[in-house]
Amino acid sequence: MTPRTTPASIPLPADLASPLPGRGALPPRAHLRSDAPRQVLDGTWQVRLRPSPRHVADDGWQQADARLDPADWSPVAVPGHLPLQGHGSPIYANVAYPFPVDPPFPPDDNPVADHRLELVASPEVLAHPSVLRFEGVDGAATVWLNGVELGTLRGSRLTTELACTGVLRPGTNVLAVRLAQWSAHSYLEDQDMWWMPGIFRSVTLLARPHGAVRDVFVHAGYDHRDGSGTLRVDVELEDGAEAPATISVPALGLHEVATGVDHHVPSVAPWTAETPVLHDARVRTPTETVDLRIGFRTVAVEDATLLLNGTPLLLKGVNRHEHDPHRGRVVDLAAARAELLLMKQHHINAVRTSHYPPQADFLDLADELGFYVILENDLETHGFVLVDWRGNPSDDARWLPAYQDRMRRTVERDKNHPSVLMWSLGNEAGTGANLDAIARWTRDRDPDRLVHYEGDARSRHVDVYSRMYASVPEVEAIATEPPAETFTDPDEQHRRRLPFVLCEYAHAMGNGPGGLSEYQDLFHRYPRLAGGFIWEWVEHALAGGTTDDGRPVQLYGGDFGERVHDGSFVVDGLVHADRTPGPALADLARVFSPVSLRLAPDLSTLTVVNRYHSLDLSHLEAVWTTDGDGPAAGTAITLPEVPAGTSAVVPLRLPPSALAATVTVLLRRRTAGDGCAAGHEVAWIQHIPDRPVGALEAGRVAPRRTGDGLVQLGPASFDERTGMPVGLGALALHDVAVSLWRAPTENDRGVAWEEPGLPSVADRWAAARLDDLRTRLVEVAEDGPAFVVRTRTGPPVLDAGVDVTWRWTSDGTSLALDLTLVPYGSWPCDWGRAGIDLRLAAPTTRVRWTGWGPGPQYPDTGQGARYGSFVADRDDYAVRTVRPQEHGARRVDDATVELGARALRVRGAGLPLTVRPWSRAVVAATRHDHELPAATETWISVDAAVGGVGTASCGPGVLPEYRLTPSTRQLHVILTQVDPVV
Ligand code: GAL
Repeated sequence: MTPRTTPASIPLPADLASPLPGRGALPPRAHLRSDAPRQVLDGTWQVRLRPSPRHVADDGWQQADARLDPADWSPVAVPGHLPLQGHGSPIYANVAYPFPVDPPFPPDDNPVADHRLELVASPEVLAHPSVLRFEGVDGAATVWLNGVELGTLRGSRLTTELACTGVLRPGTNVLAVRLAQWSAHSYLEDQDMWWMPGIFRSVTLLARPHGAVRDVFVHAGYDHRDGSGTLRVDVELEDGAEAPATISVPALGLHEVATGVDHHVPSVAPWTAETPVLHDARVRTPTETVDLRIGFRTVAVEDATLLLNGTPLLLKGVNRHEHDPHRGRVVDLAAARAELLLMKQHHINAVRTSHYPPQADFLDLADELGFYVILENDLETHGFVLVDWRGNPSDDARWLPAYQDRMRRTVERDKNHPSVLMWSLGNEAGTGANLDAIARWTRDRDPDRLVHYEGDARSRHVDVYSRMYASVPEVEAIATEPPAETFTDPDEQHRRRLPFVLCEYAHAMGNGPGGLSEYQDLFHRYPRLAGGFIWEWVEHALAGGTTDDGRPVQLYGGDFGERVHDGSFVVDGLVHADRTPGPALADLARVFSPVSLRLAPDLSTLTVVNRYHSLDLSHLEAVWTTDGDGPAAGTAITLPEVPAGTSAVVPLRLPPSALAATVTVLLRRRTAGDGCAAGHEVAWIQHIPDRPVGALEAGRVAPRRTGDGLVQLGPASFDERTGMPVGLGALALHDVAVSLWRAPTENDRGVAWEEPGLPSVADRWAAARLDDLRTRLVEVAEDGPAFVVRTRTGPPVLDAGVDVTWRWTSDGTSLALDLTLVPYGSWPCDWGRAGIDLRLAAPTTRVRWTGWGPGPQYPDTGQGARYGSFVADRDDYAVRTVRPQEHGARRVDDATVELGARALRVRGAGLPLTVRPWSRAVVAATRHDHELPAATETWISVDAAVGGVGTASCGPGVLPEYRLTPSTRQLHVILTQVDPVV
């Protein structure tokens, strides 16, 4: 007998499992600014949720006269994400699909949200044919107007237009959108970000008058040899109408000239990110006027060099996701503008729109403010890597139409923006015929731009050789490869002719990224290197309200009960989710500065290297200051003309006394512009004289046993049993100990890419029990004026450790320590730091210091820190990150840690000083900043040396020269109990 099978009682809508593009969409076109009537439908809609398509109610809810149970429906903001409005939960997963890899099927657990909007169309819209435009709907949707299905939406970050002529009517209309979170297309949308369904970009009704402009394609090239431009504007009209369209560009003397033909402009100012010259233009038909802003520029590759307008171009970029801690990928234009201005102020000139087209208006801002854009398709299938790429849609013909559809919609929408230099086929989608096909299509459709795709392992179909997280040595090897002719493989030959771009590098997660300068040095040295894009601009933490004591709660993967998630890997940006900068942004600004400066050791000259693409330096004034001068002060240095790409040696006429002072040379803007205020510092360099380490006049006091178990040395007392100091003046000192460990940074927790399969640095420390050192007192001795303590400190289990000599002296007021650490045994790992910890029983109020600041400095970070005097409150000094970790070390010569009525002064030569209210063990064990206990005490570390931070959270580890290998380390520090400065 054949067994009877029962089909699922309510079948899933077949199209949720279809790899095909959405149904019913109009051909994609440019996002145009037109005078045709329109009506924005954003606002409050109604929504009801069902857990699965098998549970949906087909109760005629799409009809205007539907009888609906009001209890079932609740208001929802459009644009918005449902899980951020109480409907379901966000899911953060990086690579893994949070559902079975069973393409093209979505899982049954698949929340479905029915959206409903009652609207009255304006008479102006009703007077013409009309379309409904959806700019971003995360998930898979079906759209009805007045019960009539208009089409389906696929491609969450792509625009879809659906015709609604004849369905849209006077009076009340009902727009209904049924949105399922998962569909076949989820397999194509595996970007490293939150899964959050919702109508998250605008919905607009557009009138499309007969004979209006359907589409425009601007081609505006610049010929650097003679300074001329060529403009051709291709125009397509609605309904294939024949009525003529004209183009006017008044500033270029073009008035109502023909479209579709080349117009030679004998002299035109080119568009660059530094000189974003845009020309207002107008395309006119009898029924519609479209406004454009045209920039003339030519992007090309020659001799494996990326050229803009004939000149080599260096991309100083960031990867930008759209993120707001409260609204997810709903980012309003004002916020986007503020982001771009912040980038400008930090010398960022390029954005890769990782990993999807941003809201359409973002490109207007990029054109206007001046950014080079790699515009990326909404495509990623990274999760297939976890099943050895079996079933990857990129190489499965059934998915070809979807790939074509997504790429077309990407290119067509944004093709008129001078800022867009490259089209990216997508991110981390493996390889396959579908990608090859869309690369070919893209090149055919837009031969004036370059094609980018990092995943093209052989660079066969692309115009730039793109990689992510390649190490410094590897990038250098690529920069210096032998010429193309020496390769026999045609693909290798092709690749050798391509410029090289790091589409992602310097993973900005937690404390880091370390090593920015080393990459930039290579970019400056080798013409093949066209720069790169930091991963990433903004952290994607989601706001979770505040704690009882008012601390903001920031959430990441796993905080919403997700079972498949990637934790804090979503919090890895230069700026926090609320766009306040992390310390790395100041470092990046220094590294990305368009002007490099060098001071002769005798201060006789200043070398100025102009690294701008096309600007000279006439917008900058140069001044020098010495310590103590206010920021606006400065003596002018006359700069000669320094055209872009050249350098000059400028004589400096400083007084001889300058050699003994801290001299700062600044280049700053003469006037406001380029997103910066007048006076904005563009470049700086310092001469820092030798600073003799203060030696105490030792010998004025000698150690003295007090008979009660203590040894007194000037203001300090020591416990005879341990040899450790327990008091300094009015301060009780606790837990003084040698320490070699730091609370692992997220980079310490990552496995360095050059060491696959080996444990992370943090795991090595854990295996060596670096966080659990035990000390044996070897000897307590008096050596003339010195109190000398010898200890042996090492982790349990191992036979390695450090022999420590603590040599204490005092002048009666202060206490000096000369500490020597000598490793013994066979050390299985590098150290995190080498120095001492101590605890004070009151919380820090603020820290003042002379040294480097205001930001922290580890051996491979802190390029933005300069020598001066600074003050920071407790939190700023500690540097709080969403996930707690080691941070905040400043290099100090003289610091005062204030604890209300008392203070501890710490002096030495450029000593790494860490101050925070928690022990390292607490920092390391706490998952979120808001879970750290309130400040009741102060932990201070003073180090002989600290290790670099690298970027192993995703990428290479710490460069060898910045690792802290076990070797003899010496620390000289002077401690004084003082009164705080009032
Ligand atoms: C890359 C990926 C990014 C992000 C990054 C790590 O592999 O393209 O989307 O996941 O790694 O944060």
